[in-house]
Amino acid sequence: MNQSRGNWSSNLGFILAATGSAIGLGNLWKFPFITWENDGGAFVLIYLICIAAVGLPIMMGELLIGRKTQKSPVGALREAIGPIWGWVGAWGVIAGFVILSYYAIVAGWSLLYFTKAVGWSLQGFPDVLDAGSAFGELAGNGSKQLILTGLFLGMTVGAVYFGVHNGIERVARISLPILFVILLLLLLSALSMSGSRDALTFIFRPNFSELDSGSVLMALGQAFFSLSLGMGAMITYGSYVARNRSIVNAAGVIVILDTLIALSAAIIMFSVIFTVPGMTEQVEGSAVGMLFIALPELFYDVVPFGRFLGPLFYVLVALAALTSTISLLEVVVSYVIDEVKISRPRATIVSGGLTFVLSILAALSLGAVPALSNFEFFAGKPGVFNTLDHFAANWMLPTGGLLVTLGVGWFMSRQSTESELIDENTPSWFDYRLWRFCIRYIAPVAVTAIVISVILGHDFS
Ligand code: PHE
Repeated sequence: MNQSRGNWSSNLGFILAATGSAIGLGNLWKFPFITWENDGGAFVLIYLICIAAVGLPIMMGELLIGRKTQKSPVGALREAIGPIWGWVGAWGVIAGFVILSYYAIVAGWSLLYFTKAVGWSLQGFPDVLDAGSAFGELAGNGSKQLILTGLFLGMTVGAVYFGVHNGIERVARISLPILFVILLLLLLSALSMSGSRDALTFIFRPNFSELDSGSVLMALGQAFFSLSLGMGAMITYGSYVARNRSIVNAAGVIVILDTLIALSAAIIMFSVIFTVPGMTEQVEGSAVGMLFIALPELFYDVVPFGRFLGPLFYVLVALAALTSTISLLEVVVSYVIDEVKISRPRATIVSGGLTFVLSILAALSLGAVPALSNFEFFAGKPGVFNTLDHFAANWMLPTGGLLVTLGVGWFMSRQSTESELIDENTPSWFDYRLWRFCIRYIAPVAVTAIVISVILGHDFS
């Protein structure tokens, strides 16, 4: 093993960091929203099947490439599969850069809403606040956007700068336990509300008459995004795992935690929504609406202990987002360190700075600068922000994921994947033949279906 590369200090440290990458805005922001849009039950069931049959096997595939080669995505794919596969890694590095540039903007809002919520808790929620137009004002305020995004990227750079062990792992070790506790408090509070029964029914009772093929494909796309797959994040994190640790177990834990958090977030939000009369109509708008428009007011009206939980909720969003932005930046930084051969501190600052340049364009495209906000590259996705999100989530992750699963399933020998997955630490629930079947057949077919539907114009964002 290359000693100059960082390494996780322990298996727990690795699992926390990788789980931190997976848990993020995808769980708290996107999942409840698209579950809502797709009428719950049946969609959730399909999502769970996608997670188990596609997400879990690809998670193991990415981790095994990383651990086997101990390299960042470009070098790792080149070495594990073949020279030309380096391009797949490069595709992932670009995806990391693109996703980070707009993800950090939403993450930045959580910082602002945290300070706002603290103010509301201390001084009372204003009687005549129109949360919708307050949010619209923020979206169109260029300088506020830039400050918040810059702040969040600065925090991300700060963590990655200190390396795998002292930066990334440390932040995850502190953040994740806090995140779990806050989420549990919110969940208990939500379950005590009168709307929680309706919420649970909505989420867990499948009604297949509501389901169309678009929803199936959306569930698959969400599984990718939520598990941080298709762009090399898990290859990178796997490359810091020592050889004597089981990645099979780790993959299982990451996937289960990510899924539990997504479900909990949906239970919390829907309990609130179903408790307030008239709320269901109001949230029919956007994902942004749920997190930054509907919830603030509700914390001060209906949520038990809302004054206390309101600010905590935005801490939760910020921490979850931070451990994800860290992994996005780390993909880019590890590539720059390995391939451009400069030191980590320099690589981090250069990569963070370049990301900020792209972020500026996206941050000003939410109303502040008309030229950036109005142009349409993809129909119905006006502005730089929406264009980047659409391009990354709908094109980059599915294509990257498809290539990785084909590479692992068809271009790596059975012996080389088996030796990575099976050792004395492999848990008894794992079945190599089933894994190989999923990675060779189920995952490629499912992902090809996404890619084709995107080509035919279906929208997952
Ligand atoms: N998984 C993260 C989330 O759910 C997003 C992410 C995607 C992070 C890809 C890293 C890589 O928010």
